[in-house]
Amino acid sequence: MKTYIADTDEMKDYGQKLGRTFRGGEVLELVGDVGAGKTTLVKGIAIGLGVEDDVQSPSFTLSRVYEARDGLQLHHYDFYRLHDAGIMSYEVAESVNDSKVVTVIEWAASVANVLPENRQRIIIAYKPSGVGREIDVESKI
Ligand SMILES: Nc1ncnc2c1ncn2[C@@H]1O[C@H](COP(=O)(O)OP(=O)(O)O)[C@@H](O)[C@H]1O
Ligand SMILES: [Mg+2]
Repeated sequence: MKTYIADTDEMKDYGQKLGRTFRGGEVLELVGDVGAGKTTLVKGIAIGLGVEDDVQSPSFTLSRVYEARDGLQLHHYDFYRLHDAGIMSYEVAESVNDSKVVTVIEWAASVANVLPENRQRIIIAYKPSGVGREIDVESKI
């Protein structure tokens, strides 16, 4: 399903709505170029999950963990330009197999082998004009 996102606030709202529906165990792979809005979407998802901390891009730390509502946690990964995730793939495997965790991954190629088949892929594309983006939610189920 494709949705047009006009600006940053709409991206956060979209994420927030998504985050509100999560019950734990969800695995999301975010696909899109640098600056497409992946981390912006995660900021919204965090709000929908009742996370009170500010979501920061995990570009340098590779992973960040946030406490969320209902005893859930949000695990946010970013493997930009990482060819070999090494032992990080064990950490990802633990996250995606934990029913109390919502896992969101940017640049997931290097950990694709530990991701479940039924993960959700969300593709974010720039629109040629201005700040608009197009979101395409692909479910592998
Ligand atoms: N429609 C939009 N959706 C999301 N972000 C947008 C949009 N328009 C402009 N932006 C801006 O683009 C940037 C996206 O950055 P970020 O979310 O970190 O991207 P990524 O994680 O994909 O590299 C932010 O500065 C954001 O404010
Ligand atoms: Mg990012």
